[in-house]
Amino acid sequence: MTDWPGLALNHLSDALFITDVAQRIVWLNRFAEEIFGITLKESRGLSAAGITGIEALTPLLDDLFERESSPEPVLDKVETVLRFSGKRYYFRVAAAPVEGPEGFAGALLQLTDITRFSEMEKFKGDYLSIVSHEFRTPLTSVVLGVEMLRTGLLGELNERGEEIFAAIGDDCSRLTKLVDNLLELSRIESGAIYIQAEPVDAVELVQEAVRPLKIQAENKGISLVTELPGAVPPVAADFNKTVWVLTNLIGNALRYTEAGGTIAVQVRVGRRRLYFSVRDTGCGIPPEYRDQIFEKFIQVRGPVGRKGGAGLGLAISKEIVTAHDGEIWVESEVGAGSTFTFSFPLFRREGMLG
Ligand SMILES: Nc1ncnc2c1ncn2[C@@H]1O[C@H](COP(=O)(O)OP(=O)(O)OP(=O)(O)O)[C@@H](O)[C@H]1O
Ligand SMILES: [Mg+2]
Repeated sequence: MTDWPGLALNHLSDALFITDVAQRIVWLNRFAEEIFGITLKESRGLSAAGITGIEALTPLLDDLFERESSPEPVLDKVETVLRFSGKRYYFRVAAAPVEGPEGFAGALLQLTDITRFSEMEKFKGDYLSIVSHEFRTPLTSVVLGVEMLRTGLLGELNERGEEIFAAIGDDCSRLTKLVDNLLELSRIESGAIYIQAEPVDAVELVQEAVRPLKIQAENKGISLVTELPGAVPPVAADFNKTVWVLTNLIGNALRYTEAGGTIAVQVRVGRRRLYFSVRDTGCGIPPEYRDQIFEKFIQVRGPVGRKGGAGLGLAISKEIVTAHDGEIWVESEVGAGSTFTFSFPLFRREGMLG
């Protein structure tokens, strides 16, 4: 009898393995044979981790067999150097249980080759990093020159000239911020985010972020207030990076709130975590955007519209918060306002995160 499923799976361009509950290979498809340089016969009894050189497969399967009823585990990106060809590959791995009449009989492992995709991602990251670096130096001299002209250091300007240079000055600061954000993001994406977590006073942190934005809020007719508890235990945080996150959240609130509105920066102490939130009475965010805005270059479309940013601030904030073992989320009502909250672990004596 023809083994149709087996034949079909042999033509799949993903590597497939079936293992028993002891994680020994029972079957693999032809693509797996080719890419890992092993035959079905030779593979019997070996482990998938052993054949592929991907050690993370063992805990992944342990996890799968232990969970019983939860979503199937996935590894987004694992790297391995193939033993027989010496080539570097990246795979996305998904594991699914194979159920027999008496519970788990084994697992199906699917390895999708994402090497090309990963290389392109890396290329894009490097490109971004080089371009933003190259932008920075000339930009600095443009900013300096404009500042000199604007302040009359090189002679008086007429009224029209002042207007023009004020506009150029504003564009320069927008561009500088964009280039800085792109650089920061490419640094983070290349894995170079380094969090120096120290015991930090959350009140001091909030004040540091709020102080420089007070005037900007006043100019816009928005009241910027803080709601801080009396005693706050230290939080495990990188001071400057956390100030950056708060500044960015307050900056957004300022951008998306009309005159007459209020922005409140709050600190709340939980049992194991500390919560920072920035609440505004601005335009709000439609539900379908509430997860998306934490991705890069995502901005809300529609009546709220673009207001000049690049859509990078929240993506960077999320990376920074996640690197602190924290979480960030938003609650919002369109037309009433938004509250962005992030949590950090409290500082423990040993100085460890988590
Ligand atoms: N407080 C807020 N109220 C309403 N919408 C918001 C608020 N904060 C963020 N958003 C929405 O989320 C989008 C993404 O925010 P993000 O900070 O990542 O980018 P940006 O502010 O547009 O640009 P950038 O931060 O790079 O200057 C914004 O474009 C806006 O549509
Ligand atoms: Mg922003």
